Amino acid sequence: MTSVSLLEVSPLGREFFSTANPARVYEYLLGGSWSYAVDRTAAYAVYKTAKWLKTAALINRDYSLLSVEWSIGRGVRQFLDLGCGYPGSANTHEIAKSTQTGWPVVYVDSDPGVYAHARARLDEGPGVTAVHADLLSMDQLLACEAVHSAFDPGAPVAVLLHDVLPWCTDDAAVDQAMAILREWMPVGSSLSITHLTDRWHPVTMPDVEGAYADHGLHIRPRSRDVISTLFGDLVQQNQGLVATGLWHKRGRYVRHPEEHSAAFAGIAVKEPPVTDSGIPRPSSEETA
Ligand SMILES: C[S@@+](CC[C@H](N)C(=O)[O-])C[C@H]1O[C@@H](n2cnc3c(N)ncnc32)[C@H](O)[C@@H]1O
Repeated sequence: MTSVSLLEVSPLGREFFSTANPARVYEYLLGGSWSYAVDRTAAYAVYKTAKWLKTAALINRDYSLLSVEWSIGRGVRQFLDLGCGYPGSANTHEIAKSTQTGWPVVYVDSDPGVYAHARARLDEGPGVTAVHADLLSMDQLLACEAVHSAFDPGAPVAVLLHDVLPWCTDDAAVDQAMAILREWMPVGSSLSITHLTDRWHPVTMPDVEGAYADHGLHIRPRSRDVISTLFGDLVQQNQGLVATGLWHKRGRYVRHPEEHSAAFAGIAVKEPPVTDSGIPRPSSEETA
């Protein structure tokens, strides 16, 4: 496994244990063991305002695994998991590995704890890279040697952004990072996003935001229209941007009522540029 930190933070300073953080609150909601009292207090306060939060986290996690399987099904062999969170029971590289060992999987997270765990627990053979970085510094992230050398630039990449962009509250910075990411993605790549929305909880969502803010955490639900702009002109697959629990036909949590997801999910594909005649240019594979 390769690992690199692009962030200059003291990994385990005092603040790390005394301040709630998104990775550990989410880990706690999923029933995982990597959280501190401060995270559990925050999670409980938010849960009290919105009982659907735990189900929404489970639906999101289930979708994440299905999204990787879906990408493998369409022939993608490289994965970029942005805001990957703590290693879970089935991680992106394990799903990929169940098919073929060694496919490149790059995990990125800004949380020093996630990075430490990724380094300790994901050391399972070739192909896995852990990067400690802020995805809002997308230029720097994509240019770093570890990411650059992990991928075959001519082959498609499945990019995963699951429940991470709501934690990025600066709209302009998100738009800029997404534009850079879409430009970088090789033709044939897919972009999978899940994103919290207030569509089904317009009354309780401000309370959720308030409860998080009381614990120093800032979250930004976005509308379906805004979330759809994150995909740029990539082409939505299946039925398009829908409640996370409805995107896939399989999985433990599919077909849950939309309000249980509290989030939209979509996977969009970067198609070849269209020529002047309006006909898509063939990919290098088709011309080979
Ligand atoms: C709710 S967790 C989602 C984890 C995982 N993607 C999943 O769906 O199971 C959000 C993760 O995004 C990470 N994150 C938040 N802002 C980030 C940023 N600007 N750059 C990189 N990671 C970020 C957090 O540290 C956390 O681990």
